[in-house]
Amino acid sequence: MFSEVKEGTTRILIPTQTTKSIFYNPLMELCRDIDIAGIAAFVSSLPSQKIPLTYIDALAATGVRGVRVAKEVGLRVVINDRSSSAYEVINRNIKRNAVEERAKAYNENANVLLLQNKYDLVDLDPFGTPVPFLDAACKSAKKLLLITATDTAPLCGAHSGGLRKYDAKPLNTEYHKEMATRILLGKVTRDLCKYDKAIQPLLSYSKAHFVRLIARVEKGAKKADDCMKRLGFIAHCFSCGNRFAFSCSDLMELKVEKKCEVCGAKIHIAGPLYINTIKQKGFCERVHNELGKRTLGKKKEAMKIVETSINELDIPFFYEHHAICKALKVPPSSISSLINALQSSGFSASRTHFSDTAFKTNARMEEIKSILKA
Ligand SMILES: C[S@@+](CC[C@H](N)C(=O)[O-])C[C@H]1O[C@@H](n2cnc3c(N)ncnc32)[C@H](O)[C@@H]1O
Ligand SMILES: [Zn+2]
Repeated sequence: MFSEVKEGTTRILIPTQTTKSIFYNPLMELCRDIDIAGIAAFVSSLPSQKIPLTYIDALAATGVRGVRVAKEVGLRVVINDRSSSAYEVINRNIKRNAVEERAKAYNENANVLLLQNKYDLVDLDPFGTPVPFLDAACKSAKKLLLITATDTAPLCGAHSGGLRKYDAKPLNTEYHKEMATRILLGKVTRDLCKYDKAIQPLLSYSKAHFVRLIARVEKGAKKADDCMKRLGFIAHCFSCGNRFAFSCSDLMELKVEKKCEVCGAKIHIAGPLYINTIKQKGFCERVHNELGKRTLGKKKEAMKIVETSINELDIPFFYEHHAICKALKVPPSSISSLINALQSSGFSASRTHFSDTAFKTNARMEEIKSILKA
């Protein structure tokens, strides 16, 4: 049994039984709305193409992403799922939206398709971790990678598995959502570099249970070498909250103290992870503009994420306002007045899309505390 839902301007058949074998998560409409605007913004920034761009929705389930990209952005799309019941629904959804000329369904193992073919845009939206498909996706992608991870527990250090899956050690800090985003970006950077490809993150965000990356891919050994320099580590003191980032080369030269310079407690290290900027401002502005123009169910929420990302400082961690106030036993002011106070003291400060109650700043923990106590 099927029912129909509408996302953007696309109508999608989804299974109604609770024992459904074909997956559809209405909570991910927000992510798909941002993707549509993101893909449209990316395509419009390219010089006009002689051959149409190709996009693959490699793990498609109902095909909602791929059908939307065909219908709402107009790309040539491959929509794949290894489940034969999903494959049938994908075909029905292609027909229902009259995109047969641009969309083709496949019933393959995603890794086989990705290893055998190159696509301009590669989209991975798996159950849990994208790691089993990442190597093939990095080999296949020519221009853009879109990647979801929902295994936030190993990515942010709440469970073991970070080292096993991502070759990186996360720490379970208050900024774990950002840590998860940057550990995933670090892994994608290294997987692309094997193929002499460079990553440029265009929009990276985490909401609810998922992390989503939209990143440009460029070919070139020199560019790939430069990307590796954007990997590093975050040092965190769980005793006083002091935290800082440092690059891989600092570690190799052993320039890192093992004790917190503020309180003397042991410093814990997370990484390697991506410590450079995780967005491109101009791209995010174009996505914001696209979101504003389109018919989208989650438009308001999507615009808020993108707008906050545009103004977010390029610092690889944030501070939870209430947690610091609680430790200091002072009542929290509003986040905007704290940001103003930091700025008036000569520091940079911004909100972060990762948390409504957090802020980013180049002030150190001791400086933040003295402003909060003033
Ligand atoms: C989370 S669902 C995809 C959701 C979909 N992208 C959306 O936006 O609604 C993951 C899908 O991957 C499919 N899948 C898992 N392993 C696969 C593989 N090796 N090759 C192709 N499809 C696979 C599953 O059948 C499932 O439908
Ligand atoms: Zn300390």
